[in-house]
Amino acid sequence: MPAKISVRDLDFTGKTVFLRVDFNVPLEGGQVADSSRLQAALPTIELILAKGGALVLGSHLGRPGGKRVKELGMAPVAAKLSELLASQIASAEDCIGPEVEQQARELEAGQVLLLENLRFHPGETANDPRFADGLARLADLYVNDAFGTVHRDHASVVGICSRMPVAAAGLLLEKELLCLSRLLSKPERPFIALIGGAKVSGKVELLSNLLSKVDALLIGGAMSYTLLRGRGVATGDSPVEEDRVLFAGELLQTVRRTDVKFRLPSDHTIIPAGQFDSRPTHTPGESIPEGMAGVDIGPRTVQDYCKEIGLAKTILWNGPMGIFENPSFDAGTRAVGTAIAESTALSVVGGGDTVTAVGKFHLERGMDHLSTGGGAALELLSGKPLPGVEALTEKP
Ligand code: 3PG
Repeated sequence: MPAKISVRDLDFTGKTVFLRVDFNVPLEGGQVADSSRLQAALPTIELILAKGGALVLGSHLGRPGGKRVKELGMAPVAAKLSELLASQIASAEDCIGPEVEQQARELEAGQVLLLENLRFHPGETANDPRFADGLARLADLYVNDAFGTVHRDHASVVGICSRMPVAAAGLLLEKELLCLSRLLSKPERPFIALIGGAKVSGKVELLSNLLSKVDALLIGGAMSYTLLRGRGVATGDSPVEEDRVLFAGELLQTVRRTDVKFRLPSDHTIIPAGQFDSRPTHTPGESIPEGMAGVDIGPRTVQDYCKEIGLAKTILWNGPMGIFENPSFDAGTRAVGTAIAESTALSVVGGGDTVTAVGKFHLERGMDHLSTGGGAALELLSGKPLPGVEALTEKP
């Protein structure tokens, strides 16, 4: 992809900047429950303000479906951001229209205005040209630092870019693109990927793309049951995506034509189906008996996967190994996470659940890069184009 203009290349003196951020954060009791996405945007915010700019910040929050949903208003985000910046930022009651335009015009250098949830308007997700026009009227320049949203063809991500004299990449966006694309282009070998999570369906392209990049692919989580079924292994009452069993069989055929070490769990942590309060046991092998359901990888698999992690020079981790939210079933995710954090390999973690697991087990400091983008990271690693990056202005 051609290089894009960076926020570092621009002078913001006397300019108002529309900064697209991804402040789609979890809320609890009307407050921001996890501010990591806000913190990740601070370097770009502070850089633009330090370079003499004023800021209009735009983000979505949740999926309100094009209408106002009280619980998805940006007020808690404004409060948290003011705290992080140690200065009260202004809030707008909408994101387009004459009143917001007036507020944006009145901004002075160093001031910040946070718009109301962009997805309160259907024009945002529809990439409606009139809505994009309305957003473009708020500023002189555009910067995108919303890595988590660049896979969306939305007005504030794509439509607005062609309406601004310059659309530049923010620091977070640059860092994410650099870390994730370096994995695919020049990884130090051995390069291994641990892929887990509930479903094969969301990771078909990821698995196919990684097969041509990695030296080893280690699979965990509920998706392994579908893949095991594709090999004809009994999985008892574990969740299986019946409509993906055929794909699983085909993937396994493709694997045989490569040199990639492809590992499925050789044992499992199981419970009687649906009885989440029961004490888990382990299977002796890869099959799971009738009436039982897998909830985590088993101890032998943990040992195998940790050994591979110990040999790796580059590691991608996407997707938990089991139902780590339940402490009785978190051993697999905890063990592989700890092994990755303790390894000297370059470690990159992508995917919302995986980042949550890293936080739960306090492993952040051991990881080289924790991606702020779930879907966006997945798309990039699947080799798909990112419309929000393509829309930015190329370097001359
Ligand atoms: C995310 O949380 O992955 C991004 O903010 C994108 O949100 P979306 O999946 O609702 O577009």
